[in-house]
Amino acid sequence: MERTLSIIKPDGVAKGLAGEVIGRMEKAGIRICAVKMLRLTLDQAKMFYAVHKERPFFESVTRFMTSGPIIAMVLEAEDVIKKNRDLMGATNPKDALPGTIRKDFATDVEKNVVHGSDGPQTAAQEIKFFFSDLEIQQ
Ligand code: RTP
Ligand code: MG
Repeated sequence: MERTLSIIKPDGVAKGLAGEVIGRMEKAGIRICAVKMLRLTLDQAKMFYAVHKERPFFESVTRFMTSGPIIAMVLEAEDVIKKNRDLMGATNPKDALPGTIRKDFATDVEKNVVHGSDGPQTAAQEIKFFFSDLEIQQ
């Protein structure tokens, strides 16, 4: 079994998409084993997206990620990192396949509703960023 971190971003929460997003995950056979709602500080957002700190969109995306509450979740399934990325669709909704979350609901390349870890190492790091072992259901 593999685990990944998912975030419903501030735009997704504000648009009332939590149920829709979680429903798609559960229908795909993904189990939610931890969940919390929180609002990131700017420092926390910068830490979370530190890999992008040299990118032109860093300031903007970190500000966006602090613009409202988010829902962080630990997902579990076989091959869940890829399964979740497939459900999400491409970063830019213009490039996302029909039926993906971003194609259906994203506003633009930044306000794209969901985050998903992109590999086993980032998944482990990102899960630790939000959750202690005690907060994750076995
Ligand atoms: P994420 O990390 O949120 O799951 O998204 P991703 O892997 O599909 O995309 P990534 O390249 O890691 O970018 C992280 C987030 O930064 C914002 N972004 N804005 N203005 C832009 O060109 C731009 N590019 C990326 C998006 O919110 C993206 O999801
Ligand atoms: Mg990414």
